[in-house]
Amino acid sequence: MKKIAVIGTGYVGLVSGTCFAEAGNQVTCCDINQSKISSLLQGIMPIYEPGLKELVQKNVERETLAFTTKIDEAVRAAEVVFIAVGTPMSATGEADLTYVKQAAETIGSNLNGYKVIVTKSTVPVGTGKLVESIIRKSAPKGQAFDIVSNPEFLREGAAIKDSMNMERAVIGATSDKAYEIIAELHIPFTSNIVKSSVESAELIKYAANAFLATKISFINDIANICERVGADVTKVSEGIGLDSRIGSKFLQAGVGFGGSCFPKDTSALLHIAQDSGYDFNLIKAVMETNEGQRAQVVEKIMAALGSLKGKTISVLGLAFKPDTDDVRFAPALDIIPQLKTLGAQVKAFDPIAIGEAKKQLGNQCDYSDDLYETIKHTDACIVLTDWKEVKGLDLVKVKRLLKRPVIVDGRNLFDLDEMHDLGYTYISMGRPA
Ligand code: NAD
Ligand code: UGA
Repeated sequence: MKKIAVIGTGYVGLVSGTCFAEAGNQVTCCDINQSKISSLLQGIMPIYEPGLKELVQKNVERETLAFTTKIDEAVRAAEVVFIAVGTPMSATGEADLTYVKQAAETIGSNLNGYKVIVTKSTVPVGTGKLVESIIRKSAPKGQAFDIVSNPEFLREGAAIKDSMNMERAVIGATSDKAYEIIAELHIPFTSNIVKSSVESAELIKYAANAFLATKISFINDIANICERVGADVTKVSEGIGLDSRIGSKFLQAGVGFGGSCFPKDTSALLHIAQDSGYDFNLIKAVMETNEGQRAQVVEKIMAALGSLKGKTISVLGLAFKPDTDDVRFAPALDIIPQLKTLGAQVKAFDPIAIGEAKKQLGNQCDYSDDLYETIKHTDACIVLTDWKEVKGLDLVKVKRLLKRPVIVDGRNLFDLDEMHDLGYTYISMGRPA
Protein backbone atom coordinates (compact mmCIF):
# COMPACT_ATOMS: atom_id res chain seq x y z
CA MET A 1 0.00 0.00 0.00
CA LYS A 2 1.38 3.39 -0.99
CA LYS A 3 0.24 6.93 -0.27
CA ILE A 4 -0.33 8.49 -3.67
CA ALA A 5 -1.14 12.03 -4.83
CA VAL A 6 -2.38 12.49 -8.38
CA ILE A 7 -2.08 16.04 -9.71
CA GLY A 8 -4.70 16.64 -12.38
CA THR A 9 -8.10 14.98 -12.03
CA GLY A 10 -9.05 14.72 -15.71
CA TYR A 11 -9.68 11.55 -17.72
CA VAL A 12 -6.28 10.11 -16.88
CA GLY A 13 -5.81 11.38 -13.32
CA LEU A 14 -9.30 10.43 -12.17
CA VAL A 15 -9.30 7.00 -13.80
CA SER A 16 -5.79 5.96 -12.82
CA GLY A 17 -6.16 7.43 -9.32
CA THR A 18 -9.37 5.45 -8.85
CA CYS A 19 -7.74 2.25 -10.11
CA PHE A 20 -4.73 2.67 -7.80
CA ALA A 21 -7.23 3.14 -4.94
CA GLU A 22 -9.14 0.04 -6.04
CA ALA A 23 -5.84 -1.87 -5.81
CA GLY A 24 -5.61 -0.89 -2.13
CA ASN A 25 -3.48 2.26 -2.18
CA GLN A 26 -4.36 5.49 -0.37
CA VAL A 27 -5.00 7.98 -3.18
CA THR A 28 -5.72 11.71 -3.20
CA CYS A 29 -6.72 13.17 -6.56
CA CYS A 30 -6.03 16.91 -6.73
CA ASP A 31 -6.99 19.61 -9.16
CA ILE A 32 -6.84 23.39 -9.47
CA ASN A 33 -10.37 23.32 -10.88
CA GLN A 34 -12.56 23.97 -7.83
CA SER A 35 -15.83 23.08 -9.54
CA LYS A 36 -14.47 19.72 -10.72
CA ILE A 37 -13.40 18.81 -7.19
CA SER A 38 -16.69 20.09 -5.70
CA SER A 39 -18.64 17.89 -8.13
CA LEU A 40 -16.54 14.85 -7.27
CA LEU A 41 -17.04 15.49 -3.55
CA GLN A 42 -20.79 15.36 -4.23
CA GLY A 43 -20.41 12.11 -6.17
CA ILE A 44 -20.95 13.79 -9.57
CA MET A 45 -18.50 12.63 -12.24
CA PRO A 46 -17.06 15.45 -14.37
CA ILE A 47 -16.69 13.05 -17.33
CA TYR A 48 -18.70 10.18 -18.75
CA GLU A 49 -16.77 6.90 -18.57
CA PRO A 50 -18.43 3.48 -18.22
CA GLY A 51 -18.02 2.02 -14.71
CA LEU A 52 -16.23 5.06 -13.29
CA LYS A 53 -18.96 6.39 -10.98
CA GLU A 54 -19.41 3.04 -9.20
CA LEU A 55 -15.68 2.53 -8.69
CA VAL A 56 -15.19 6.09 -7.40
CA GLN A 57 -18.13 5.72 -5.01
CA LYS A 58 -16.85 2.39 -3.68
CA ASN A 59 -13.36 3.74 -2.97
CA VAL A 60 -14.57 7.02 -1.47
CA GLU A 61 -16.79 5.01 0.90
CA ARG A 62 -13.96 2.75 2.01
CA GLU A 63 -11.72 5.84 2.33
CA THR A 64 -9.03 4.78 -0.13
CA LEU A 65 -9.88 7.69 -2.46
CA ALA A 66 -10.16 11.41 -1.68
CA PHE A 67 -10.45 14.63 -3.70
CA THR A 68 -8.98 18.03 -2.91
CA THR A 69 -7.83 21.36 -4.28
CA LYS A 70 -5.23 21.49 -1.48
CA ILE A 71 -2.44 20.17 -3.70
CA ASP A 72 0.29 21.23 -1.25
CA GLU A 73 -1.13 19.05 1.52
CA ALA A 74 -1.65 16.08 -0.79
CA VAL A 75 1.94 16.28 -2.06
CA ARG A 76 3.39 16.53 1.44
CA ALA A 77 1.44 13.46 2.58
CA ALA A 78 2.38 11.33 -0.44
CA GLU A 79 5.19 8.86 -1.11
CA VAL A 80 4.44 8.81 -4.85
CA VAL A 81 3.19 11.83 -6.82
CA PHE A 82 1.73 11.38 -10.29
CA ILE A 83 1.55 14.32 -12.70
CA ALA A 84 -1.54 13.81 -14.88
CA VAL A 85 -2.27 17.36 -16.03
CA GLY A 86 -3.17 18.27 -19.59
CA THR A 87 -0.53 18.84 -22.28
CA PRO A 88 -2.69 20.46 -24.99
CA MET A 89 -1.53 21.39 -28.46
CA SER A 90 0.00 24.88 -28.48
CA ALA A 91 -0.82 27.37 -31.27
CA THR A 92 2.34 26.25 -33.07
CA GLY A 93 1.60 22.51 -32.75
CA GLU A 94 3.95 21.50 -29.92
CA ALA A 95 2.86 20.10 -26.55
CA ASP A 96 2.13 22.98 -24.16
CA LEU A 97 3.96 22.20 -20.90
CA THR A 98 2.57 25.10 -18.85
CA TYR A 99 0.56 22.82 -16.51
CA VAL A 100 3.34 20.28 -16.14
CA LYS A 101 5.74 23.05 -15.08
CA GLN A 102 3.16 24.41 -12.60
CA ALA A 103 2.72 20.94 -11.12
CA ALA A 104 6.51 20.47 -10.85
CA GLU A 105 6.83 23.78 -8.98
CA THR A 106 4.09 22.78 -6.54
CA ILE A 107 5.82 19.44 -5.94
CA GLY A 108 9.23 21.09 -5.44
CA SER A 109 8.00 23.60 -2.91
CA ASN A 110 6.30 20.85 -0.90
CA LEU A 111 9.05 18.24 -0.95
CA ASN A 112 9.37 17.13 2.65
CA GLY A 113 11.10 13.75 2.28
CA TYR A 114 11.98 11.19 -0.42
CA LYS A 115 9.24 10.91 -3.04
CA VAL A 116 8.92 9.34 -6.46
CA ILE A 117 7.65 11.89 -8.99
CA VAL A 118 5.95 10.19 -11.90
CA THR A 119 4.94 11.86 -15.15
CA LYS A 120 1.83 10.20 -16.56
CA SER A 121 0.92 13.08 -18.88
CA THR A 122 2.06 12.66 -22.49
CA VAL A 123 5.17 14.83 -22.70
CA PRO A 124 8.03 15.45 -25.16
CA VAL A 125 11.36 13.74 -24.65
CA GLY A 126 13.39 15.76 -22.16
CA THR A 127 10.42 16.71 -19.96
CA GLY A 128 11.57 14.32 -17.22
CA LYS A 129 14.82 16.30 -17.01
CA LEU A 130 12.87 19.58 -17.06
CA VAL A 131 10.60 18.41 -14.21
CA GLU A 132 13.69 17.31 -12.26
CA SER A 133 15.36 20.72 -12.66
CA ILE A 134 12.20 22.64 -11.68
CA ILE A 135 11.77 20.51 -8.56
CA ARG A 136 15.45 20.82 -7.68
CA LYS A 137 15.21 24.63 -7.89
CA SER A 138 12.15 24.93 -5.64
CA ALA A 139 12.88 22.08 -3.19
CA PRO A 140 14.90 22.39 0.03
CA LYS A 141 18.61 21.82 -0.66
CA GLY A 142 19.74 18.19 -0.65
CA GLN A 143 16.20 16.80 -0.57
CA ALA A 144 16.20 13.40 -2.33
CA PHE A 145 13.63 12.43 -4.99
CA ASP A 146 13.45 10.36 -8.15
CA ILE A 147 11.84 10.98 -11.51
CA VAL A 148 9.84 8.38 -13.42
CA SER A 149 8.14 8.44 -16.81
CA ASN A 150 5.09 6.13 -16.75
CA PRO A 151 2.97 7.01 -19.80
CA GLU A 152 -0.72 6.18 -19.93
CA PHE A 153 -2.24 4.02 -22.70
CA LEU A 154 -5.92 3.94 -21.71
CA ARG A 155 -8.62 4.59 -24.31
CA GLU A 156 -11.59 6.82 -23.54
CA GLY A 157 -14.79 4.80 -23.34
CA ALA A 158 -12.80 1.78 -22.09
CA ALA A 159 -10.64 3.59 -19.57
CA ILE A 160 -11.43 1.49 -16.48
CA LYS A 161 -11.10 -1.80 -18.35
CA ASP A 162 -7.81 -0.69 -19.91
CA SER A 163 -6.42 0.51 -16.58
CA MET A 164 -7.39 -2.58 -14.60
CA ASN A 165 -6.03 -4.90 -17.33
CA MET A 166 -3.12 -3.15 -19.00
CA GLU A 167 -1.49 -4.84 -21.99
CA ARG A 168 1.74 -3.40 -20.63
CA ALA A 169 3.14 -0.72 -18.38
CA VAL A 170 6.16 1.34 -19.38
CA ILE A 171 8.43 2.57 -16.62
CA GLY A 172 11.47 4.76 -17.18
CA ALA A 173 13.09 5.62 -13.85
CA THR A 174 16.15 7.53 -12.67
CA SER A 175 16.90 4.87 -10.02
CA ASP A 176 16.26 1.16 -9.41
CA LYS A 177 14.56 2.06 -6.13
CA ALA A 178 12.00 4.26 -7.94
CA TYR A 179 11.55 1.64 -10.67
CA GLU A 180 10.75 -1.03 -8.06
CA ILE A 181 8.21 1.21 -6.28
CA ILE A 182 6.32 1.99 -9.50
CA ALA A 183 6.60 -1.58 -10.81
CA GLU A 184 5.08 -2.86 -7.56
CA LEU A 185 2.14 -0.47 -7.95
CA HIS A 186 1.43 -2.13 -11.32
CA ILE A 187 1.42 -5.76 -10.10
CA PRO A 188 -2.43 -5.84 -9.87
CA PHE A 189 -2.79 -4.53 -13.41
CA THR A 190 -0.22 -6.28 -15.60
CA SER A 191 2.72 -8.64 -15.66
CA ASN A 192 4.19 -6.99 -18.78
CA ILE A 193 6.46 -4.19 -17.71
CA VAL A 194 8.84 -2.49 -20.11
CA LYS A 195 11.77 -1.05 -18.17
CA SER A 196 13.52 1.75 -20.02
CA SER A 197 15.25 5.08 -19.63
CA VAL A 198 13.06 8.11 -18.92
CA GLU A 199 13.68 9.35 -22.49
CA SER A 200 12.69 6.04 -24.11
CA ALA A 201 9.51 5.87 -22.01
CA GLU A 202 8.60 9.40 -23.11
CA LEU A 203 9.12 8.50 -26.76
CA ILE A 204 7.27 5.15 -26.47
CA LYS A 205 4.05 7.04 -25.75
CA TYR A 206 4.28 9.23 -28.86
CA ALA A 207 5.48 6.32 -31.01
CA ALA A 208 2.50 4.19 -29.91
CA ASN A 209 -0.09 6.88 -30.69
CA ALA A 210 1.62 7.85 -33.94
CA PHE A 211 1.75 4.21 -35.06
CA LEU A 212 -1.97 3.72 -34.39
CA ALA A 213 -2.74 6.99 -36.20
CA THR A 214 -0.59 5.78 -39.11
CA LYS A 215 -2.61 2.56 -39.37
CA ILE A 216 -5.81 4.62 -39.58
CA SER A 217 -4.46 7.00 -42.22
CA PHE A 218 -3.00 4.07 -44.16
CA ILE A 219 -6.37 2.34 -44.40
CA ASN A 220 -8.03 5.65 -45.23
CA ASP A 221 -5.59 6.13 -48.13
CA ILE A 222 -6.38 2.59 -49.27
CA ALA A 223 -10.10 3.49 -48.99
CA ASN A 224 -9.52 6.43 -51.30
CA ILE A 225 -7.85 4.12 -53.83
CA CYS A 226 -10.76 1.65 -53.42
CA GLU A 227 -13.21 4.36 -54.48
CA ARG A 228 -11.23 4.98 -57.64
CA VAL A 229 -10.77 1.32 -58.66
CA GLY A 230 -14.12 -0.12 -57.52
CA ALA A 231 -12.83 -2.14 -54.54
CA ASP A 232 -14.32 -2.35 -51.03
CA VAL A 233 -12.04 -1.19 -48.19
CA THR A 234 -13.85 -3.29 -45.56
CA LYS A 235 -12.84 -6.40 -47.52
CA VAL A 236 -9.30 -5.12 -48.04
CA SER A 237 -9.07 -4.41 -44.32
CA GLU A 238 -10.33 -7.91 -43.46
CA GLY A 239 -7.97 -9.44 -45.98
CA ILE A 240 -4.85 -7.76 -44.65
CA GLY A 241 -5.86 -7.71 -40.95
CA LEU A 242 -5.98 -11.50 -40.66
CA ASP A 243 -2.22 -11.53 -41.20
CA SER A 244 -1.09 -11.48 -37.57
CA ARG A 245 1.93 -9.36 -38.53
CA ILE A 246 -0.52 -6.63 -39.56
CA GLY A 247 -3.42 -7.21 -37.10
CA SER A 248 -7.05 -6.30 -37.65
CA LYS A 249 -7.31 -3.45 -35.13
CA PHE A 250 -7.21 0.21 -36.17
CA LEU A 251 -7.92 -0.68 -39.79
CA GLN A 252 -11.42 0.78 -39.85
CA ALA A 253 -11.60 3.35 -42.64
CA GLY A 254 -13.80 6.38 -42.18
CA VAL A 255 -13.90 10.04 -41.31
CA GLY A 256 -10.45 9.87 -39.70
CA PHE A 257 -9.18 10.04 -36.15
CA GLY A 258 -10.18 12.68 -33.62
CA GLY A 259 -9.98 12.94 -29.86
CA SER A 260 -7.75 14.67 -27.38
CA CYS A 261 -4.69 12.61 -28.25
CA PHE A 262 -3.97 11.42 -31.81
CA PRO A 263 -4.25 14.88 -33.44
CA LYS A 264 -2.17 16.61 -30.76
CA ASP A 265 0.34 13.79 -30.32
CA THR A 266 1.09 13.35 -34.04
CA SER A 267 1.65 17.10 -34.22
CA ALA A 268 3.85 17.08 -31.09
CA LEU A 269 5.91 14.16 -32.46
CA LEU A 270 6.49 16.04 -35.70
CA HIS A 271 7.91 18.90 -33.60
CA ILE A 272 10.02 16.55 -31.46
CA ALA A 273 11.49 15.14 -34.69
CA GLN A 274 12.05 18.61 -36.18
CA ASP A 275 13.76 19.82 -32.99
CA SER A 276 16.08 16.80 -33.18
CA GLY A 277 16.95 17.71 -36.79
CA TYR A 278 14.82 14.97 -38.41
CA ASP A 279 12.15 15.56 -41.03
CA PHE A 280 9.42 13.01 -40.18
CA ASN A 281 7.65 12.98 -43.56
CA LEU A 282 5.57 9.91 -42.78
CA ILE A 283 3.79 11.57 -39.87
CA LYS A 284 3.12 14.69 -41.97
CA ALA A 285 1.36 12.47 -44.51
CA VAL A 286 -0.65 10.79 -41.75
CA MET A 287 -1.92 14.18 -40.56
CA GLU A 288 -2.67 15.37 -44.10
CA THR A 289 -4.65 12.22 -44.96
CA ASN A 290 -6.65 12.65 -41.76
CA GLU A 291 -7.67 16.20 -42.64
CA GLY A 292 -8.63 15.04 -46.13
CA GLN A 293 -11.06 12.44 -44.73
CA ARG A 294 -13.07 15.13 -42.96
CA ALA A 295 -13.19 17.27 -46.09
CA GLN A 296 -14.44 14.25 -48.05
CA VAL A 297 -17.59 13.93 -45.94
CA VAL A 298 -18.59 17.46 -46.93
CA GLU A 299 -17.68 16.81 -50.60
CA LYS A 300 -19.78 13.64 -50.59
CA ILE A 301 -22.89 15.34 -49.21
CA MET A 302 -22.44 18.19 -51.71
CA ALA A 303 -22.15 15.70 -54.56
CA ALA A 304 -25.30 13.89 -53.39
CA LEU A 305 -27.47 17.00 -52.90
CA GLY A 306 -26.01 19.37 -55.49
CA SER A 307 -26.18 22.36 -53.17
CA LEU A 308 -26.71 22.68 -49.42
CA LYS A 309 -28.50 26.04 -49.63
CA GLY A 310 -31.88 25.75 -47.93
CA LYS A 311 -31.31 22.08 -47.01
CA THR A 312 -31.45 20.58 -43.53
CA ILE A 313 -28.88 17.93 -42.65
CA SER A 314 -29.02 15.57 -39.68
CA VAL A 315 -25.62 14.78 -38.18
CA LEU A 316 -25.45 11.59 -36.10
CA GLY A 317 -22.70 11.78 -33.50
CA LEU A 318 -20.88 14.68 -31.84
CA ALA A 319 -18.40 12.77 -29.61
CA PHE A 320 -15.11 11.80 -31.31
CA LYS A 321 -15.91 8.13 -30.62
CA PRO A 322 -18.66 6.15 -28.83
CA ASP A 323 -18.98 5.81 -25.03
CA THR A 324 -17.46 9.19 -24.25
CA ASP A 325 -18.68 12.77 -23.92
CA ASP A 326 -15.33 14.05 -25.18
CA VAL A 327 -15.60 16.23 -28.29
CA ARG A 328 -11.99 17.39 -28.46
CA PHE A 329 -10.93 17.35 -32.17
CA ALA A 330 -14.17 15.51 -32.99
CA PRO A 331 -15.01 15.40 -36.72
CA ALA A 332 -18.40 17.04 -35.96
CA LEU A 333 -16.68 20.22 -34.74
CA ASP A 334 -15.08 20.66 -38.18
CA ILE A 335 -17.88 19.38 -40.34
CA ILE A 336 -20.92 21.15 -38.82
CA PRO A 337 -19.46 24.68 -39.32
CA GLN A 338 -18.60 23.75 -42.93
CA LEU A 339 -22.18 22.58 -43.56
CA LYS A 340 -23.42 25.88 -42.12
CA THR A 341 -21.05 27.91 -44.31
CA LEU A 342 -22.41 26.06 -47.33
CA GLY A 343 -25.94 27.18 -46.40
CA ALA A 344 -27.37 24.14 -44.59
CA GLN A 345 -29.39 24.00 -41.38
CA VAL A 346 -28.03 21.29 -39.08
CA LYS A 347 -29.75 19.03 -36.56
CA ALA A 348 -27.33 17.03 -34.43
CA PHE A 349 -27.83 13.84 -32.40
CA ASP A 350 -25.66 12.53 -29.59
CA PRO A 351 -26.68 10.43 -26.56
CA ILE A 352 -24.03 11.84 -24.19
CA ALA A 353 -21.91 14.64 -25.66
CA ILE A 354 -24.43 17.44 -26.33
CA GLY A 355 -23.35 19.45 -23.28
CA GLU A 356 -19.68 19.39 -24.30
CA ALA A 357 -20.47 20.04 -27.98
CA LYS A 358 -22.62 23.08 -27.15
CA LYS A 359 -19.60 24.69 -25.46
CA GLN A 360 -17.82 24.59 -28.85
CA LEU A 361 -20.58 24.85 -31.44
CA GLY A 362 -23.05 27.09 -29.61
CA ASN A 363 -26.18 27.67 -31.67
CA GLN A 364 -24.72 26.47 -34.97
CA CYS A 365 -27.11 23.51 -34.82
CA ASP A 366 -30.17 22.14 -33.05
CA TYR A 367 -29.31 19.37 -30.60
CA SER A 368 -31.24 16.27 -29.58
CA ASP A 369 -30.60 12.96 -27.88
CA ASP A 370 -33.55 11.51 -29.80
CA LEU A 371 -32.20 9.81 -32.91
CA TYR A 372 -35.40 9.70 -34.95
CA GLU A 373 -36.49 13.26 -33.98
CA THR A 374 -33.12 14.44 -35.30
CA ILE A 375 -33.52 12.64 -38.62
CA LYS A 376 -37.19 13.62 -39.15
CA HIS A 377 -37.80 15.97 -42.11
CA THR A 378 -34.10 16.40 -42.91
CA ASP A 379 -32.88 16.27 -46.52
CA ALA A 380 -30.01 13.89 -45.77
CA CYS A 381 -28.19 12.29 -42.91
CA ILE A 382 -24.45 12.15 -42.09
CA VAL A 383 -23.03 9.51 -39.72
CA LEU A 384 -19.98 10.73 -37.79
CA THR A 385 -19.82 8.58 -34.63
CA ASP A 386 -20.32 4.80 -34.44
CA TRP A 387 -22.62 4.95 -31.40
CA LYS A 388 -24.48 1.65 -30.85
CA GLU A 389 -27.76 3.56 -31.24
CA VAL A 390 -26.68 4.65 -34.72
CA LYS A 391 -25.41 1.17 -35.64
CA GLY A 392 -28.81 -0.20 -34.66
CA LEU A 393 -30.89 2.33 -36.66
CA ASP A 394 -34.23 1.10 -38.01
CA LEU A 395 -33.38 1.87 -41.62
CA VAL A 396 -36.93 1.36 -42.87
CA LYS A 397 -38.19 3.95 -40.40
CA VAL A 398 -35.31 6.32 -41.23
CA LYS A 399 -36.21 6.19 -44.93
CA ARG A 400 -39.77 7.23 -44.07
CA LEU A 401 -38.52 10.13 -41.92
CA LEU A 402 -35.98 11.54 -44.37
CA LYS A 403 -37.13 13.90 -47.13
CA ARG A 404 -34.65 12.16 -49.48
CA PRO A 405 -33.15 8.74 -48.85
CA VAL A 406 -29.55 10.01 -48.68
CA ILE A 407 -27.05 8.83 -46.07
CA VAL A 408 -23.36 9.76 -46.06
CA ASP A 409 -21.77 7.30 -43.67
CA GLY A 410 -18.39 8.36 -42.27
CA ARG A 411 -18.10 5.09 -40.31
CA ASN A 412 -19.14 2.41 -42.85
CA LEU A 413 -21.82 1.06 -40.51
CA PHE A 414 -24.35 -0.41 -42.92
CA ASP A 415 -24.48 -3.26 -45.39
CA LEU A 416 -24.19 -2.12 -49.03
CA ASP A 417 -26.68 -4.66 -50.42
CA GLU A 418 -29.26 -3.94 -47.73
CA MET A 419 -28.99 -0.19 -48.31
CA HIS A 420 -29.34 -0.74 -52.05
CA ASP A 421 -32.38 -2.97 -51.59
CA LEU A 422 -34.00 -0.39 -49.30
CA GLY A 423 -33.57 2.21 -52.03
CA TYR A 424 -31.06 4.46 -50.33
CA THR A 425 -28.49 6.68 -51.97
CA TYR A 426 -25.86 5.36 -49.58
CA ILE A 427 -22.40 6.91 -49.76
CA SER A 428 -19.79 5.45 -47.43
CA MET A 429 -16.00 5.62 -47.23
CA GLY A 430 -13.95 3.49 -49.63
CA ARG A 431 -16.80 1.25 -50.73
CA PRO A 432 -18.67 1.05 -54.04
CA ALA A 433 -21.61 3.52 -54.15
P1 NAD B 1 -7.85 16.66 -18.88
O1 NAD B 1 -7.85 17.97 -19.55
O2 NAD B 1 -9.08 15.82 -18.89
O3 NAD B 1 -7.43 16.84 -17.35
C1 NAD B 1 -6.32 17.57 -16.93
C2 NAD B 1 -6.63 18.14 -15.54
O4 NAD B 1 -5.46 18.75 -15.01
C3 NAD B 1 -7.71 19.24 -15.55
O5 NAD B 1 -8.76 18.88 -14.67
C4 NAD B 1 -6.98 20.49 -15.04
O6 NAD B 1 -7.78 21.35 -14.28
C5 NAD B 1 -5.87 19.86 -14.22
N1 NAD B 1 -4.72 20.74 -13.97
C6 NAD B 1 -4.07 21.55 -14.82
N2 NAD B 1 -3.05 22.16 -14.21
C7 NAD B 1 -3.04 21.72 -12.92
C8 NAD B 1 -2.22 21.98 -11.80
N3 NAD B 1 -1.17 22.79 -11.89
N4 NAD B 1 -2.51 21.35 -10.65
C9 NAD B 1 -3.56 20.50 -10.56
N5 NAD B 1 -4.37 20.22 -11.59
C10 NAD B 1 -4.11 20.82 -12.77
O7 NAD B 1 -6.64 15.87 -19.51
P2 NAD B 1 -6.52 14.27 -19.77
O8 NAD B 1 -7.32 13.90 -20.95
O9 NAD B 1 -6.69 13.57 -18.48
O10 NAD B 1 -4.99 14.18 -20.19
C11 NAD B 1 -3.95 14.35 -19.26
C12 NAD B 1 -2.66 13.89 -19.92
O11 NAD B 1 -2.74 12.49 -20.19
C13 NAD B 1 -2.37 14.54 -21.28
O12 NAD B 1 -0.98 14.68 -21.40
C14 NAD B 1 -2.87 13.51 -22.28
O13 NAD B 1 -2.20 13.59 -23.52
C15 NAD B 1 -2.53 12.22 -21.58
N6 NAD B 1 -3.38 11.07 -21.95
C16 NAD B 1 -4.72 11.24 -22.09
C17 NAD B 1 -5.52 10.13 -22.39
C18 NAD B 1 -6.99 10.28 -22.59
O14 NAD B 1 -7.61 9.32 -23.04
N7 NAD B 1 -7.60 11.41 -22.29
C19 NAD B 1 -4.93 8.87 -22.53
C20 NAD B 1 -3.54 8.74 -22.36
C21 NAD B 1 -2.78 9.85 -22.06
C1 UGA C 1 -5.99 6.65 -28.06
C2 UGA C 1 -5.18 5.37 -27.89
O1 UGA C 1 -5.91 4.27 -28.43
C3 UGA C 1 -4.84 5.11 -26.42
O2 UGA C 1 -4.01 3.97 -26.30
C4 UGA C 1 -4.12 6.33 -25.86
O3 UGA C 1 -3.84 6.17 -24.49
C5 UGA C 1 -4.98 7.55 -26.05
O4 UGA C 1 -5.27 7.73 -27.47
C6 UGA C 1 -4.28 8.79 -25.61
O5 UGA C 1 -3.09 8.90 -25.67
O6 UGA C 1 -5.04 9.64 -25.18
P1 UGA C 1 -8.55 7.33 -27.71
O7 UGA C 1 -8.16 8.61 -28.37
O8 UGA C 1 -9.34 7.35 -26.46
O9 UGA C 1 -7.24 6.46 -27.40
O10 UGA C 1 -9.43 6.48 -28.74
P2 UGA C 1 -9.16 5.42 -29.90
O11 UGA C 1 -10.05 4.29 -29.69
O12 UGA C 1 -7.73 5.13 -30.08
O13 UGA C 1 -9.68 6.22 -31.17
C7 UGA C 1 -9.03 7.39 -31.63
C8 UGA C 1 -9.67 7.88 -32.91
O14 UGA C 1 -9.36 7.00 -33.99
C9 UGA C 1 -11.21 7.94 -32.86
O15 UGA C 1 -11.63 9.12 -33.49
C10 UGA C 1 -11.65 6.72 -33.64
O16 UGA C 1 -12.90 6.89 -34.25
C11 UGA C 1 -10.54 6.64 -34.69
N1 UGA C 1 -10.37 5.27 -35.24
C12 UGA C 1 -9.96 4.26 -34.45
C13 UGA C 1 -10.59 5.05 -36.60
O17 UGA C 1 -10.94 5.99 -37.36
N2 UGA C 1 -10.39 3.79 -37.10
C14 UGA C 1 -9.98 2.76 -36.34
O18 UGA C 1 -9.82 1.64 -36.87
C15 UGA C 1 -9.77 3.00 -34.97
